[in-house]
Amino acid sequence: MKKGLAILSSAILSCALFANAAFAASEMESTMKDMKKSYKAAAADSDTTALAKNLKAFRTAVEKAKTTKLPSKYDKKTFDEGITKLLAGLDNVDKLVAANKVPEAKAELDKLRSLMKEYHKKLKV
Ligand code: HEM
Repeated sequence: MKKGLAILSSAILSCALFANAAFAASEMESTMKDMKKSYKAAAADSDTTALAKNLKAFRTAVEKAKTTKLPSKYDKKTFDEGITKLLAGLDNVDKLVAANKVPEAKAELDKLRSLMKEYHKKLKV
């Protein structure tokens, strides 16, 4: 009976661990999807107000990615480096928007796409 209980509890524990790992992976993925949505919206904007709003949503999503558990198959050091660069790039975009330089801001925003490609490649996403 005791043995049965032990087997049962270890089975429950492995299920919980497995579910947790699966959840962690999808949490990062869904955060990245939020990044994609707000990035695309910002890239399509041509007025300062809409651009500022979508950039804010993009920053919120990037900040969330920064603290979301990274699935263990990815290198954390490389990930942190990329997110730091992304936030620095976003600071530049925001400065240009604040100065009402929309075309320049959009050009900077476009560069973040290369950063995405670079890091997705480095991390083998
Ligand atoms: C404009 C910037 C970015 C956008 C719009 C973006 C978007 C996405 C999207 C849509 C996915 C999920 C689907 C897929 O393509 O397979 C994804 C996955 C991922 N991205 Fe990004 N990304 C960006 C930048 C970055 C950067 C800078 C890093 C790392 C420093 C990064 C790390 C990852 C990782 C680790 C995954 C896989 C998540 C998982 O398997 O759970 N991304 N990204």
